[in-house]
Amino acid sequence: MVPERFKTNDPNTFGQYTATSRWPVLVQNAVDDLNEELKNHSGESKKQGEIIGSQLKELLDELKKDARLRPFTQDEIATAGVPTSFNEYLAEAQDEESSWFNAEWLFAEIYMYRRINVLFKSQPLWAKFDIFERVKQSTFRSSFHGVVELALRYKTLSAQLREKGGDNEALQILFKEFIDISLWGNATDLSLLTNATLEDIKSIQGAQARKNAESKIVVDDSSKAWEVLLRGGPNTRVDFVLDNSGFELYADLVLAAFLINSKLVKQCVFHGKDIPYMVSDALHKDLLILVDNMRDPEFFPTEDETSRDALNGFAQDIEKFIAGGQLQFRANPFWTTNLDYWSIDPSETKHGGAEVHKDLSGSDLVIFKGDLNYRKLTGDRRWPRTTPWSEAIGPLAENGVTLLSLRTSKADVQVGLPRGLDEKLSQEWEKDHPGKGSWWTSSGKWAVISFSSSR
Ligand code: F6P
Ligand code: MG
Repeated sequence: MVPERFKTNDPNTFGQYTATSRWPVLVQNAVDDLNEELKNHSGESKKQGEIIGSQLKELLDELKKDARLRPFTQDEIATAGVPTSFNEYLAEAQDEESSWFNAEWLFAEIYMYRRINVLFKSQPLWAKFDIFERVKQSTFRSSFHGVVELALRYKTLSAQLREKGGDNEALQILFKEFIDISLWGNATDLSLLTNATLEDIKSIQGAQARKNAESKIVVDDSSKAWEVLLRGGPNTRVDFVLDNSGFELYADLVLAAFLINSKLVKQCVFHGKDIPYMVSDALHKDLLILVDNMRDPEFFPTEDETSRDALNGFAQDIEKFIAGGQLQFRANPFWTTNLDYWSIDPSETKHGGAEVHKDLSGSDLVIFKGDLNYRKLTGDRRWPRTTPWSEAIGPLAENGVTLLSLRTSKADVQVGLPRGLDEKLSQEWEKDHPGKGSWWTSSGKWAVISFSSSR
């Protein structure tokens, strides 16, 4: 029997805490950022922006009062292109009368971002505005040290790869290094880092930090993914189902550039979001902005010429890969529907699951980045934590997609653990967090690398 999904009223869960304590702050931050932005506007655009501001406050009020999750209106659906899957879900759940703090966590969270997006899409002069851009940019700017360190690493490595190529043993070691870079890039999560200092950010982005964190990777299937690449032919394609923009996207680009430069793969395909989402998730324009940021001496000021060269060189390589089609970006609307990834299957013909399945089946390896993707892969369900990964990902375990999930754990759901480990880590976490031992999986301090082949 498939277990229930986590709910926002499950006592003593991170999901309940997130809904009641973190969402209100997040919507309030959006209100504040909009007010800041409005200082630069006048006339009609100011008027429309103010309408959005007051509607955002109404949404905040709804949330705080634990109002019912209402369906989207026909008007909203038409103007903002809301996928019909949302209202279908709500119609089915109606008997239970879902409200913000009494709903499936995964649905309510995705619904919240869609509600925010509808407000912007309904005002023509703001339809393309990204309310989270301000916070994405300022956090990326704070990632300066990690960014330069990686650019320098990339520069040295590309020179070596050009000169000598690499034997398989060396390439495997590098593969693991770049997988770790991309994995821990996910730890820089804006929604968890609202109060982080520059020191905090530095401490999770450097090589030393990764080395220290190696023991925190509690499931590590990276060698199985390596086998796939080793067996791959000259047309190997690797896909990334992206998560956050900023430092994480940068780390993903480093991994992609390594795969391309080392000739392990011919092409990388990035799958991003079509609307501003989960605060920090990557849109196509975020990729373009990131490349601009790297070249911009005002964004990343450094007197050191080697660092400047490394940043420029990396930006140039990325632009070259994009121009040559070795790096592509796609933003299928499926990724921002409320459907979980059990729907990535030929049988899901209504909301884009079959189309995405077809696309991903053409890839040799699909890397799912981050926590939300992990929640969607496992359906965000109350699985016993020793449940085999292949069971928790449902149809994807056998419908022709080879995948690797790189996740720093930031939610209650956790599967694939060896017997006894959850108990041990819960006890450990309990010492400093009385009554909350099982929340170790929500702390962002542990990680998993979980693989499934396309049998
Ligand atoms: O901290 C919880 C959370 O906000 C979840 O709602 C979501 O799964 C996650 O963080 C977002 O993290 P990521 O960017 O890694 O998907
Ligand atoms: Mg995210």
